[in-house]
Amino acid sequence: MKIKKTYAFAFWISLYLSIFSIILYYFIDYVLLKLPISIKFLAIFIIIFFITTFIVVQYNLEKFIFQRIKKIYEDVSILDASDLNKTPISSDINSLSRDVEKFAENKQEQIKQLNLRENYRKEFLGNVSHELKTPLFTVQGYLLTLSDGAVNDKLIREKYLQRANKGVERLIAIVKDLDLISKIESSDLTLNKQPFNIVSLLQEVFELLEMKAKKRNVTLIFDKKYDYPVMVIGDVERIEQVLTNLLVNSIKYGKLDGTTVVTIELHKQNEVLIKIADNGEGIKKQHQARLFERFYRVDKSRSREQGGSGLGLAIVKHIIEAHNESIFVKSEYKKGSEFSFTLEKVEKI
Ligand SMILES: Nc1ncnc2c1ncn2[C@@H]1O[C@H](COP(=O)(O)OP(=O)(O)OP(=O)(O)O)[C@@H](O)[C@H]1O
Ligand SMILES: [Mg+2]
Repeated sequence: MKIKKTYAFAFWISLYLSIFSIILYYFIDYVLLKLPISIKFLAIFIIIFFITTFIVVQYNLEKFIFQRIKKIYEDVSILDASDLNKTPISSDINSLSRDVEKFAENKQEQIKQLNLRENYRKEFLGNVSHELKTPLFTVQGYLLTLSDGAVNDKLIREKYLQRANKGVERLIAIVKDLDLISKIESSDLTLNKQPFNIVSLLQEVFELLEMKAKKRNVTLIFDKKYDYPVMVIGDVERIEQVLTNLLVNSIKYGKLDGTTVVTIELHKQNEVLIKIADNGEGIKKQHQARLFERFYRVDKSRSREQGGSGLGLAIVKHIIEAHNESIFVKSEYKKGSEFSFTLEKVEKI
């Protein structure tokens, strides 16, 4: 371990003592004993005195203080060698206290982060098991009833098997969402960015969701006719997931017989803004900031009845952020909600 020594302390002590001894010599020799002053003798004496004092003070400093400071550094850096070992160790007390303070601050920050993570882990585990429990028990219920004899009735058998299958599908959907979230969070998500036409992607998603929309008689439309392609850059599959999640929400939480309007707006010079607006139940202000948290649902019973686990918007946010783009929400309670996000536009060729 390197030690940067300081000699200033020993130097100044020796200097003060030398000046003091000159004054003392002058006082005793000249004032008290009235003897003539020998400049030569005085000079040699002072030089020897200064050097000896300097060596003695420096030696003791190193022995009693520097070694201990070194020990403190060693003790502290055992905990995290990378924090302090990079810079040469200074024996100067000021920098030692500065370093130790910095070290303590770092540690405090780390402890805070670890606590946060630990809380998140606990909450996450609790949420996951809670979400899995409901469909699992449903499936188990139907299977038990079937094996208890309901299996003999053809009508009930089919109905129950279908319901059990729905439960399994729900479980699969949750596990898929969890898998995607953990992939994104462990930054395993590699984006396959490429130019694509957002208008035709939206049309495809509209078609895929047609049945779902029909069930609640929701109309999915563009704000105007886009008869020209709007080319953007992104991972098509992931953006399709974003659009699906947002559109499914607009169907689920939009009103019956409602309308979802999609707008593609030129935002800044090389950006488009895709807006998805419904005229449904809307979201109160106090919930808006938390919507993108995992498992967050405004109305748990309603969301569950719609088959939601609260992961949809968390996934949307992760994907948009992985693209270095932004997502916004505007909503008025009882009037409707508008979710919008930006995408990079392909420069005109
Ligand atoms: N368009 C919307 N209008 C009103 N509320 C919405 C809308 N979109 C989302 N929300 C509210 O935000 C909550 C979180 O949405 P999110 O998509 O993350 O979860 P979910 O739809 O409940 O479940 P999942 O999407 O995982 O199936 C919803 O439960 C709902 O309360
Ligand atoms: Mg959703």
